[in-house]
Amino acid sequence: MLIENIDVAVTAISAGHLCAIPTETVYGLAADAHNPQAISRIFAAKNRPQDHPLIIHVSDMACALEWMSDLPAWAKELAHACWPGPLTLVAKRTSLATDQITGGQNTVAVRVPNHLTALKLLELLKMQGILGLVAPSANRFGHVSPTNAQHVNADLGEYLYANGDLILDGGECGVGIESTIVLATDEHPVILRPGAISAEQIESITGRRVQQNQDGEPRVSGALASHYAPRAKVVVISNLANQNFEQGSGFIALVEVQTPVGLVRLAQPETSVGFATELYKAFRRGDELELANIYIWLPPESGIGLAIADRVHKAAHPDKEI
Ligand code: TXA
Ligand code: MG
Repeated sequence: MLIENIDVAVTAISAGHLCAIPTETVYGLAADAHNPQAISRIFAAKNRPQDHPLIIHVSDMACALEWMSDLPAWAKELAHACWPGPLTLVAKRTSLATDQITGGQNTVAVRVPNHLTALKLLELLKMQGILGLVAPSANRFGHVSPTNAQHVNADLGEYLYANGDLILDGGECGVGIESTIVLATDEHPVILRPGAISAEQIESITGRRVQQNQDGEPRVSGALASHYAPRAKVVVISNLANQNFEQGSGFIALVEVQTPVGLVRLAQPETSVGFATELYKAFRRGDELELANIYIWLPPESGIGLAIADRVHKAAHPDKEI
């Protein structure tokens, strides 16, 4: 059922149901982080591999520290500056964070979402002793993350409704791409997944140099080349001259870039921030229109532009072609 009443969501989640929830980044498919049966149903609903670790969503720093231990001082400063907000910290886990949540790793991912509905929900659950919600993005595994309740409905509605689970409608997501994931187990921050909170911001808040992610462990499913993909073939372009555009395909670029003749404009944001907000919706619209290709002219690769480039290049990866 699609609902707007937070109390109904609280009751359902405490009874072990799943509930898709709005956050400022993308919608998440939430379950009580203390309930192994509910958590296992998340993997079934998404068709997600069992060893992919989940992010725990909490209402505040005190709750975060129930799940994470030995957080370095720089990471606490970062959390204080950015939470609630699109930042996920990966830190050493406490015994509360089970193998099922962490994919067997000794680290756990935690964030405080900056969305009034989500925060209210988390606070009400906390009063009942539920200290967090695990919530991966509420899409089928490998598909584009949902940025409104209708997207969730299109991907997972059938499964959720058949099982008495809910979708809590909190409107459109403001940020539009997933949170920045920062590994906080060492002296220096490591960005595992770029997002709206940039390396420059992290460096200026913590006073520490951000290090590059080494390939391999720890696992971040968004690191798979084929993630975040629409059905349409995504093609990155950087000039309009000498392009052999397939007529009737889609086009996404900042507003100052004109739509090439014969292409369907899917988004024309004014800023890089707006580009992030609209990107996944534009991917989904391209698929609804059954377009063969979506051509994308990326915004400048700084700040959130780096996170946009990361998602678009993954969506454009040839391995995802079907
Ligand atoms: O903005 C977001 O982060 C959204 C909203 C719903 O909060 N969530 C989201 O979740 O993007 P998901 O599951 O689609 O992606 C979470 C990523 C995964 O790629 C997962 O591998 C990584 O977080 N992750 C979780 N725990 C981890 C850990 N202990 N070490 C490394 N990566 C971890
Ligand atoms: Mg995801």
